[in-house]
Amino acid sequence: TELKRQLVHRHIRPFPDFPKKGIMFRDICPILKEPAALAAVIDLFEEHARKNYEKVELIVGLDARGFLFGPLLAQRLGIGFVLIRKKGKLPGATVSVVYDLEYGTAEMEIQEDGVAPGQKVLLIDDLLATGGTLLAACELMRKQQAEVLGCMVIIELKELNGIEKLKPLSVYSLLEY
Ligand code: PRP
Repeated sequence: TELKRQLVHRHIRPFPDFPKKGIMFRDICPILKEPAALAAVIDLFEEHARKNYEKVELIVGLDARGFLFGPLLAQRLGIGFVLIRKKGKLPGATVSVVYDLEYGTAEMEIQEDGVAPGQKVLLIDDLLATGGTLLAACELMRKQQAEVLGCMVIIELKELNGIEKLKPLSVYSLLEY
């Protein structure tokens, strides 16, 4: 497990001052370019899910980088994958939630029949920063009457304390910065 974590760590590239000055962007693209690193991510997620969320029925991924890892995990677990998208991208009836960004607000949505009431889901994204995005996703799941068992991310940015915002929900991260 530790070796897999190290492998993932070696495939995250830091970019200082992106998207703006003072921000250190952690780029996960090298993981996707290296099959062994991508497999390590999914192995670690799978291991955690099997151990802690035996009853999970659906993986719900967040726009956009949650889409890169969620379907692979869902396949491993033999369950389905559903997308939460930024507003205006999904056809048919949708349920949406407005949430706060650093400047202004944004809106995300899911197809109305994406999740059934009572369904046990795991949320997945690449990164936890302030926690605003995952919190909004939880709100969306609440509106759908789904049961969120937990969240999984590759990277947690500790100093922004998103964990606190998401309490009592449990968040599993592969790496902390
Ligand atoms: C990033 C990241 C998470 C979110 C985390 O997405 O992929 O989804 O920010 O931030 P938070 O914990 O402070 O809410 P981004 O806003 O860059 O959108 P994108 O995935 O569409 O590029």
